[in-house]
Amino acid sequence: MAFLIDGKKISAQIKDELKIEVAKLKSEGTEVKLAVIQVGNDPASSVYVGNKKKACAYIGIESLAYELPEDTSEIELLALIDQLNRRRDVNGILVQLPLPAQINEKHVIEAITPLKDVDGFHPQNVGALVTGEDGFVSCTPAGIIQLLKRSGIDVDGKECVVVGRSNIVGKPMAILLLRENGTVTVCHSHTKDLKEVCKRADILVAAIGKPKFFNREYVREGAVVIDVGIHRDENNKLCGDVDREDVMDIVSAITPVPGGVGPMTIAMLMYNCVEAVRLQKAER
Ligand code: GUN
Repeated sequence: MAFLIDGKKISAQIKDELKIEVAKLKSEGTEVKLAVIQVGNDPASSVYVGNKKKACAYIGIESLAYELPEDTSEIELLALIDQLNRRRDVNGILVQLPLPAQINEKHVIEAITPLKDVDGFHPQNVGALVTGEDGFVSCTPAGIIQLLKRSGIDVDGKECVVVGRSNIVGKPMAILLLRENGTVTVCHSHTKDLKEVCKRADILVAAIGKPKFFNREYVREGAVVIDVGIHRDENNKLCGDVDREDVMDIVSAITPVPGGVGPMTIAMLMYNCVEAVRLQKAER
């Protein structure tokens, strides 16, 4: 029977560690402050932003919430980011994505000073990840590395297959697994014989964005499966990119949906906020 990798428990551990660290910083006179910007009121974004604020409150990070109207112009948003970039008391800036059509996402990501880019989306932070320098790492893939480490799963020398090549998950995931000395393959919509490639994996990271796509035909006996997807199935139940019931008896470990990768993303965002204080101190 497969070992269930408990993202809820591991994320709670990380948040408790951060709570202690934030209290220590506070006792030394340093506050940690995150600015969270939401443009419009997309219901899914509102849930994510609410969860981020709640996690901040739990850990003792101060959150500044900016709720801007749907018709906010790019210039207005960039002006707010500029103001927050300059404020010494603000350590992290997060602009919830997606943004309304009139705002260019790339302009926004590039406007956030790399030292406050707690999402790890700025090209300078992506470059630092590739070359192995200090910087912020995208939260979901960073959380997956923590799930593996804290579950005693060693990446060194393993065949790692990542399905998906987004800037937020697939690409940084591949670099992080490489950093852990994995042998990494990245698959995407043009990959020939996806099943055969996935079947080579000791560690399979499923980030294809299709509900229950990966069944036992894609999974090797004894593989570790990390499920990044989150969807509603035909019965309106949450499910991932993996058909967990179908693969459960052949995998050695798997992340559930919900309660696997999801809670780790926020925990790592909180980690990045504390890291921001360290990086900014080193810079000043
Ligand atoms: N929208 C969905 N996921 C994310 C995320 O990790 N960061 C931001 N800023 N927006 C998102």
